[in-house]
Amino acid sequence: MILSIESSCDDSSIAITSLTNQLIFHKKISQEIAHSKYGGVVPELASRLHLQALPKILEETIPYLEKLKAIAVTNAPGLSVTLNEGVMMAKALSISLNIPLIGVNHLIGHIYSLFINKDEIKDMMVLLVSGGHTKILIMNGYNNVKEIASTIDDSFGESFDKVAKMLGLGYPGGPIIEQLAKKGEAKIKFPIPLKQSNEIKFSYSGLKNAVRLAILEGKYSKEDIACSFQKAAIEHIIMKLKKLFKTTTPKNFAIVGGASANFILREEIKKLSQQYNFKLFYPDLSYCSDNAAMIGRVGVEMYKNGDFCSYKELKAYPRVEFQSYQ
Ligand code: KG4
Ligand code: ZN
Repeated sequence: MILSIESSCDDSSIAITSLTNQLIFHKKISQEIAHSKYGGVVPELASRLHLQALPKILEETIPYLEKLKAIAVTNAPGLSVTLNEGVMMAKALSISLNIPLIGVNHLIGHIYSLFINKDEIKDMMVLLVSGGHTKILIMNGYNNVKEIASTIDDSFGESFDKVAKMLGLGYPGGPIIEQLAKKGEAKIKFPIPLKQSNEIKFSYSGLKNAVRLAILEGKYSKEDIACSFQKAAIEHIIMKLKKLFKTTTPKNFAIVGGASANFILREEIKKLSQQYNFKLFYPDLSYCSDNAAMIGRVGVEMYKNGDFCSYKELKAYPRVEFQSYQ
C-alpha cells in the first residue's frame, strides 16, 4: 500500500491506495469556511490549518502503517507554505517507517483522478480547469505530459472566485456562481476573450473587468450577472477547443480539476465530443477538487517505476512548467 498526502492549497487530505489500484482509505478536511470571509485562500492561514488537520487524519491510518511500501506527497505546484506542510509530514513518515518517498505533481494528480480504482491508464488530451490553472495537455503516462495551451493571466476557476468575491458571495466561487446562474438569464453580452485571435490560449482578466463594470452599472441582478459571466467564460473555452480540433482532434479527451464539476462546461464539451467524434472522460464529482486519492493513484505508477526521491532531494516547488507540445 501507498500512503499519499495532499496539501497544495486549502484541502488537507490523506489516502491509502493498494498496489492493485484500490482506494482503501481516503479522508479530506476542507478549509473553505475559514477562507470564505476573505474571498480567497490566505496562504498563512491555510498552512496553520493543515498543521492541525493532517495529523488528525493521519491518526486514522495507524492500522495501515506497517503495510506501507512508500509515501507519496504533492510537492508541486501550489502554495509554498502549504506544500511544505505535506512534504514535512511525508519526510518524517518516510524516515520513521524506513520506506521510500515519491514526489507527485498535483496537476498530473488531477489527470489521474480519472483512474482512481481503475487499472488501465489511457493516453489522452486533457482540459485542466482549476483554481490555479487552465491548460490543455497531452498525457501519455505520468512522465510524458506536454502542454498545448495555458492562460496568460487568471485561470477559469479563479475567475469564478473573483466574480463571486465582487458580488459579495463568498468562496469558492465556482459552485456559488453555477447555482446562482441557474436562476438568471444571459442578458449581458460580455466580450468573449481572445475571440479574434487564432492562437490557442486563454485569458480571463478582461472578462473579469467587464463583470466589474457591469456590477458598477447597478442595473443587473446578481443572477443575471452570474449567468452572463458563466456563459462567456465557457464559450471562451469552447471556441478555443473548436479552433484546436480543426488541426488536432483527440481520440480520448478529458476534463479534470476542481472546475470540471461545472455541469454546463461538461454539457458543452459533450456536444463537441459528438461533433468531433472523440471519447469524453471526466472524474467522479467527488474527485474533481483537490484530494489525496488522485495523488495516491499517480504514486502507485511511480512506485512501480521505482521513481523515488531521497528525503534530502524532495522539495516543494510552487511553480512547474510542462514542455510545450509541438
Ligand atoms: O482543483 P481545485 O480543487 O484546486 C486547485 O488546484 O486550484 O479547484 C478549485 C477551483 C476553485 O477556483 C473553484 O471556484 C473552482 O475550482 N470550481 C468551479 C466549480 N467548482 C469548483 N468553477 C466553476 N464551476 C464549478 N462548478
Ligand atoms: Zn487542484
